[in-house]
Amino acid sequence: MKALVLAGGSGSRLRPITHTSAKQLVPVANKPVLFYGLESVAEAGVREVGIVVGDSAAEIEAAVGDGSRFGLEVTYLPQEAPLGLAHAVHIARDYLGDDDFVMYLGDNFIVGGISSLVRRFRTNRPDAQIMLARVSDPRAFGVVELDPRGRVIALEEKPQHPKSDLALVGVYLFTARVHDAVCRIKPSWRGELEITDAIQELIDAGCRVDSSVVSGYWKDTGNVDDMLEVNRLVLDGVAADCAGEVSSSELVGRVVVEEGATVTRSRIVGPAVIAAGSHIRDSYVGPFTSIDSDCAVTDSEIEYSIVLRGASLAGVRRVERSLIGREVEVTSTPGALRAHRLVLGDHSKVQVTS
Ligand code: TTP
Repeated sequence: MKALVLAGGSGSRLRPITHTSAKQLVPVANKPVLFYGLESVAEAGVREVGIVVGDSAAEIEAAVGDGSRFGLEVTYLPQEAPLGLAHAVHIARDYLGDDDFVMYLGDNFIVGGISSLVRRFRTNRPDAQIMLARVSDPRAFGVVELDPRGRVIALEEKPQHPKSDLALVGVYLFTARVHDAVCRIKPSWRGELEITDAIQELIDAGCRVDSSVVSGYWKDTGNVDDMLEVNRLVLDGVAADCAGEVSSSELVGRVVVEEGATVTRSRIVGPAVIAAGSHIRDSYVGPFTSIDSDCAVTDSEIEYSIVLRGASLAGVRRVERSLIGREVEVTSTPGALRAHRLVLGDHSKVQVTS
């Protein structure tokens, strides 16, 4: 069995972060979300991984390399444009050959990994196996209708009137039969080759498509709220570890201060992680905050946020539910002037208190 990990796409919901960076590399508890996926592929016993890459290919390749650090053999598969999940399967045809494969969306996060799913597929040998999760608003997802045995009868992409609350989760297992199905489908109204159409095509051709409902936690980190939620969940599992320099400060609960980070005259309430080379001074860092490497937080308050490498906050209170990009500077207005001064890139989003 091989794995096909999708790390291309346009990432429009995570702009402006995705103007300069791959969304799959946004860190969750200071580790790129893609790495959690690659680790679960390795844990499931799969070694050969094709990673589909788009505009951010160079950045993904620099981060993942040959995959050996994950125990994987990685081959990069360039996709000329984000033409859909089934298009990604199409361009991977030669790489995949006639092997079974697990397709994993590189911005998805699944607690508990995929080992049991892969085992189940190997035991039951259906033509395809999909994973489902119950969601409150299925209209934003691929929605699945099942027969009483849990076999898939029909799929619909982002339906107006969903027939169930079961949404497709970003892990799919396929035999080589999917390739014929992919060849037969046409682009959808949004111009993409949809994987839901390819799976429907398999069903219509009489193939057996099994499903299982995820018991653990699953999130697509495609937007900021979900990214922050996954960060919360991962931080909830960290253990306190203080290897950095802490002076005249209070660390409450599970706080990680990596070696080379400093915390001075500050209060940090965990769970929170402060990466190497970051300096927290005269500040409050609240629960569920990840501060990546080489950041400076001075005379500020921040919680439930992700701060990427090299960003700085000075004299700002209070920042909450925020995703702050690399090398971003957030400062307060000097003097008594009560005005906001904004220099924002295209597609930035700012919420101010007035
Ligand atoms: P999506 O999040 O569905 O698509 P997107 O990345 O274009 O994002 P947005 O909706 O915000 O514009 O993609 C799921 C995963 O699959 C993600 O890791 C990107 C990847 N992908 C590809 O590699 N190729 C593609 O053609 C598409 C559509 C997605």
